[in-house]
Amino acid sequence: MSVDASVQLIHWYDSNARVLPWRARGEERPDPYRVWLSEIMLQQTTVAHARPYFEAFTRRWPSVESLAAADDSEIMAAWAGLGYYARARNLIGCARKVADEHDGRFPDSETGLLKLPGIGRYTAAAIAAIAFGRRAVVVDANVERVVSRLFAVEEALPGARPRLYALADAITPVERCGDFAQAMMDLGATLCTPRAPSCDACPLADRCDARREGEPERYPLKAAK
Ligand code: ADE
Repeated sequence: MSVDASVQLIHWYDSNARVLPWRARGEERPDPYRVWLSEIMLQQTTVAHARPYFEAFTRRWPSVESLAAADDSEIMAAWAGLGYYARARNLIGCARKVADEHDGRFPDSETGLLKLPGIGRYTAAAIAAIAFGRRAVVVDANVERVVSRLFAVEEALPGARPRLYALADAITPVERCGDFAQAMMDLGATLCTPRAPSCDACPLADRCDARREGEPERYPLKAAK
């Protein structure tokens, strides 16, 4: 896939992006605090489930400093229902570290972000790209599915991960990297779905190897258990 295809995908995103409360509205880039909070909540939680929690958190704690100053018990109570309480513990630890050691500003590079509690490879890349416009390779399960289909990757998960990451790297543009990442996520969530993908509406259909072969649902291949 050429860089043209990334441009094609970003054009699709410009008119089809899901309207989500952590995305920029008008301004060029969204608030890093909101991007961070959304990415932590969306680790292992669906957009639909996380959304009301995101809205409640940002209404109550509009900045990382306000979250850092809250009592643990208040935050844990507000988190109840999102599950995975280690994430909430890391959330508190991360907010306090950013407030106390970084003057309330999130680091703007993947390396800096990776030093914070609860931020791993995916989350660091997502924040760097979406909040800071850095070129970063953002690969979640949706992106893995899209890439495995675009290139009809015959290697099965989980072994295929390094290959899928390299392919995602190869198609990631320098310009509008955050929009590209979110366009891939939206494509995976809305059209390039695990079952019955809507190839007819897909902006990348003409360059999708899996579609050309006629069996997009076969990808990503999974290792036999
Ligand atoms: N899943 C994880 N991060 C997301 C984002 N920024 N937009 C949509 N879905 C997501």
